[in-house]
Amino acid sequence: MEYTRLISSRYSVRAYRSDPVEEDKLAQVLEAARLAPTAANRQPIRLVVMHTAGREAEIGKIYRRPWFVQAPLVIAVCAISAQAWVRESDRFNARLIDAAIVADHLILAAANAGLGTCWIAAFNVEAARSVLRLPDEAEPVIFTPLGYAADEPGPKERKPLEDLVRYEHW
Ligand SMILES: Cc1cc2nc3c(=O)[nH]c(=O)nc-3n(C[C@H](O)[C@H](O)[C@H](O)COP(=O)(O)O)c2cc1C
Repeated sequence: MEYTRLISSRYSVRAYRSDPVEEDKLAQVLEAARLAPTAANRQPIRLVVMHTAGREAEIGKIYRRPWFVQAPLVIAVCAISAQAWVRESDRFNARLIDAAIVADHLILAAANAGLGTCWIAAFNVEAARSVLRLPDEAEPVIFTPLGYAADEPGPKERKPLEDLVRYEHW
């Protein structure tokens, strides 16, 4: 899809059909995530792909909205802090930026393949750690369902460009 159309058409899908995601589409989406840039190319991100069928109750503990487990797949974007680039001047760790870029690549590739997603940060961390069987070094950052939308996009509500951009100084 043409890029401007792609970024306008992506929206947070909060109702999914149970139709399976084709293997080649899943592969496209994961490849887009793999190609995402990360600070100093450290690639401190891991993805956990979960099939929801038969695991709805368990996976549903991560984020308690019925639509979260309606899609056939849920993907977790996780970061390994110790592998991420750290800025020398103030010890800022880039893992969350890296995770967000990987998630955005994945989500836009999904939209390009006609699949719905929804960024989810309001998940239960303890439940996520337990369901994903995360080792201590890994941190869950973002989840998204992945599947075919069963809803329609609403209007895009965004601040006007004048509120977003300043030129030459703040
Ligand atoms: C970092 C991040 C975290 C988000 N967490 C949630 C969430 O936990 N639950 C949810 O329903 N939507 C979540 N969203 C979706 C936003 O509410 C949504 O992107 C925003 O309202 C704009 O709507 P749109 O995605 O349809 O364009 C999140 C989005 C981002 C970028």
